Amino acid sequence: MQKGERVNFGSKIGAILAAAGSAVGLGNIWRFPYETGNHGGAAFILIYLACVFLLGMPIMIAEFTIGRRSKASTGGAYKALAPGTPWKWVGYMGVLAGFLILGYYAVVAGWTLEYILEAGVNGFSGKGPDEFVAAFQDFSSDPFRPMLWLVVFLLGTHFIIVKGVKNGIERSSKILMPVLFILIVILAVCSMTLPNAEKGLAFLLKPDFSKVTGDVFLGAMGQAFFSLSLGMGCLSTYASYFGKETNLVNTALSVGVIDTFVAVLAGLIIFPAAFSVGIQPDAGPSLIFITLPNVFQQAFGGVPLLAYIFSVMFYVLLALAALTSTISLHEVATAFLHEDFGFTRGRAARLVTAGCIIIGIFSSLSLGVMQEYTLFGKGVFDLLDFVTAKIMLPLGGLLSSIFVGWYLKRSVFYEEVTNGGTLKAGVCRLCLFLLRYVAPIAITLIFVNELGLM
Ligand code: TRP
Repeated sequence: MQKGERVNFGSKIGAILAAAGSAVGLGNIWRFPYETGNHGGAAFILIYLACVFLLGMPIMIAEFTIGRRSKASTGGAYKALAPGTPWKWVGYMGVLAGFLILGYYAVVAGWTLEYILEAGVNGFSGKGPDEFVAAFQDFSSDPFRPMLWLVVFLLGTHFIIVKGVKNGIERSSKILMPVLFILIVILAVCSMTLPNAEKGLAFLLKPDFSKVTGDVFLGAMGQAFFSLSLGMGCLSTYASYFGKETNLVNTALSVGVIDTFVAVLAGLIIFPAAFSVGIQPDAGPSLIFITLPNVFQQAFGGVPLLAYIFSVMFYVLLALAALTSTISLHEVATAFLHEDFGFTRGRAARLVTAGCIIIGIFSSLSLGVMQEYTLFGKGVFDLLDFVTAKIMLPLGGLLSSIFVGWYLKRSVFYEEVTNGGTLKAGVCRLCLFLLRYVAPIAITLIFVNELGLM
């Protein structure tokens, strides 16, 4: 596509909701709770919040600057802004990271489809916690069923990408985000009224700093990047579709606040529910697939119709939240192949989808029949998660903060952030300070400390 014909999101609110659609997804509702559970609860959340606002926000503004300035997908963006330099490799690494994330994210997204079906045929009714644990284990380690859903989910993503993202992403985000919001607020209230819910609340709200180790910092930082869709050029690709009137700082803050709000609410649903039925909060990736069906049964068990409606609605929305995120991940690699290699959009999308199906099959099998095949003690699924969220994304964030903080001309940054001088420049300084010093130093320290580089 030529620069001149590049599509733009139709409105400012459309831009915010598309970016929020990318950010809000399984990262908030599936990954955030189990990472919080694995890292001891409230103290992790505090460190997570610091990462979101001190690292995530400035880096999001940096990515927006890169994308809107270059009007190119992430692979081409660094080449356009820093021609003839090795910076282009940051863009390429982002494309690779997106591809790898999609390779396991789509597996979990596929699980949501199985759960829609299960809820739809009223399969949760009358089951107890142990049965939910067993059902999830049987399903996720099955060599066929999850693969089927993975393929269905990726084909759905493919379909929207090929149709063009503008109307699909923007329109669906405008409807889905508010509905998702209302539903999770209702569920949080229900969950907090379960017996023993206060133990879950205490786990979530009372920090125990004795549990804080380097690992907690790395986990919180990785989660912040993952949840905000940062560190691989996803939001910079979206920003290349922003209009010139879009306020980058306000958009970043809106996305950050919405994303954090959804994550905390997900915690308020899942922990009271987990404690209420005696499931350990560090159950890992299976957490929401075990606790949630159970919440629906316990909270609305007296009114089976309500339990039914809520279960179905919840998994439908979870799938749709995941879909707006898989679209954004897919778009990065598709736009790159399309713009940099001259493939048609359709061909580019087919390559990405096919590649992700292959990676996805291996990550799914690594939870079942291929369990023994490990590297550094991790199967494909866990390895992809670790390498992307805890290494590639923070590294991408580090490099993009250095790029905008030190390499890019200050006037370019000011021009983008103030929309050519029409907005106040007040936050520019703070943002630049965070990008120049705070983000690079903090990310490096966390890396060095945790990965034993020193
Ligand atoms: N942020 C999304 C979520 O929370 C997942 C996602 C979409 C993502 N695009 C990304 C994660 C880019 C990392 C990088 O579910």
